[in-house]
Amino acid sequence: MSSILLVTSSPRGDASVSTRAASAIAEALARRTADARIVHRDLAAHPLPHIDQDFAVAVKAPADQLTADQAALLAASDEATDEFLNADAVVLASGMINFSIASTLKSWIDHVARAHKTFRYTAEGPEGLAGGKKVYVVIASAGTYTNGAAAAPMDFARPYLKSMLGFFGVTDVEFIDLEGVGLGIEPDEDILARALGKVPGAEFAVAA
Ligand SMILES: Cc1cc2nc3c(=O)[nH]c(=O)nc-3n(C[C@H](O)[C@H](O)[C@H](O)COP(=O)(O)O)c2cc1C
Repeated sequence: MSSILLVTSSPRGDASVSTRAASAIAEALARRTADARIVHRDLAAHPLPHIDQDFAVAVKAPADQLTADQAALLAASDEATDEFLNADAVVLASGMINFSIASTLKSWIDHVARAHKTFRYTAEGPEGLAGGKKVYVVIASAGTYTNGAAAAPMDFARPYLKSMLGFFGVTDVEFIDLEGVGLGIEPDEDILARALGKVPGAEFAVAA
């Protein structure tokens, strides 16, 4: 069975273009394989907690020495990490929030950045352990940051996600950019349609 992990983070519900685009991409990917299933991690509805002292202890201490709270945090992190590791393809979605990703997506990354699961350090340096899968990254923003835009240096979302995915061993990353959202200069539906046109099979999600 092929597994597609869809990670959404927008708090804007049905108004979110990153969630709409990412969902359409995940469904298009699923249609390519007969027995594919989509695992949806909705970080707006079910945010992972910010990492804290208990988390820092939980990922290091022997399992039989953990408190109930620490064990619960570790279990939540294990579940998110296993979803990521077991996925054949991943679609990550975020709005640009204050020039970076949604804090819920940052927390997800903090939970899946697990030594000996998604990365490890060797004598030659860090080694990613989660490679071999394609990751689509959907970023929606009001501003424009790509294609040499003047605001490009303010984009801390794409470089961060590309670096973290690379750290996890993922080199096959495709960015799906939705820029100018909500400005009224170009209809959001047109922005969505143009972005989805880059993923075969996903363009049908937007009415012509
Ligand atoms: C609190 C907040 C901060 C935002 N910060 C930025 C920003 O720094 N740069 C930008 O281009 N757009 C910014 N936006 C606009 C969002 O990126 C845009 O509305 C995007 O469509 C949100 O993604 P969504 O449609 O998936 O919810 C911000 C929006 C909110 C609500």
